[in-house]
Amino acid sequence: MLDHFNRKINYLRISVTDRCNLRCMYCLPEGKFHHKKHEDILRYEEIQEVVKVSVSLGIDKIRLTGGEPLVRKDIVQLVEMIAAVGGVKDIALTTNGIYLEEFAKQLAEAGLHRINISLDTLNPEKFALTTGGGDLEKVLKGIEAAKMAGLSPIKINCVIKTTEDEPDALAVKEYCIQNGLQARFIEEMNLKTGQFSVVHGGSGGDCKNCNRLRLTSDGKMKPCLFSDIEYDIRKYGIKEAMELAINAKPEKGTCSNNGDFYNIGG
Ligand code: 5AD
Ligand code: SF4
Repeated sequence: MLDHFNRKINYLRISVTDRCNLRCMYCLPEGKFHHKKHEDILRYEEIQEVVKVSVSLGIDKIRLTGGEPLVRKDIVQLVEMIAAVGGVKDIALTTNGIYLEEFAKQLAEAGLHRINISLDTLNPEKFALTTGGGDLEKVLKGIEAAKMAGLSPIKINCVIKTTEDEPDALAVKEYCIQNGLQARFIEEMNLKTGQFSVVHGGSGGDCKNCNRLRLTSDGKMKPCLFSDIEYDIRKYGIKEAMELAINAKPEKGTCSNNGDFYNIGG
């Protein structure tokens, strides 16, 4: 489907949970945050239905995000259910990699094509500090497992403060070259102030060419990460909510007060 600015919308990002096993400093809102209630989280049958309807509206690319998608129970089964919907050309997932060693092979077998893994530093102490106790070794093993499973391409998301020449980013870049991975550098953003930027080596943040919609884990269809507009699929119905969201896509992002990365999945 085309939006009002002639952009072809063919990409749906689905957040499957607002929970995460890490606590990245740039991701979590300040102060307390409340997890969504279990009964508000979309069931897998509902997500599969959304995928079916979205294909009929021209979506052919799906990405699962979180929170951390691999903490949701039976995530492999969801990938199977999405792969079973005809017309989905591309299924991807964004993960912090901690559980990837365990899941990479099963995910690939279930029909996952490719994967993005977050990695901001190769310094184990710094990694633990900035992620709230994450084990870097697990992520590196997860990346290895993704390679072995044949997931391709494997993209590494590296959040930078200002430039790709920061020491941590340079180390990540070198690691990616050595290991046949694609590095993407993402400037740290702030949704509330609308401070956002394009993803170096990726497609995010490029409003003119934006092809995406987002679905939150509790069923809200969002036209833009940097906007508060959302349509509840349980209230409007899936098709209606998607059409409303496509029609409401702003020309450019501004800012968002009702979302955060941990529940919209970046
Ligand atoms: N700024 C930029 N990227 C962010 N992510 C999460 N929070 C932020 C932020 N404040 C992105 C990171 C991470 C992915 C899950 O979400 O790229 O890899
Ligand atoms: Fe979890 Fe990703 Fe947020 Fe880190 S950035 S806390 S890994 S959702």
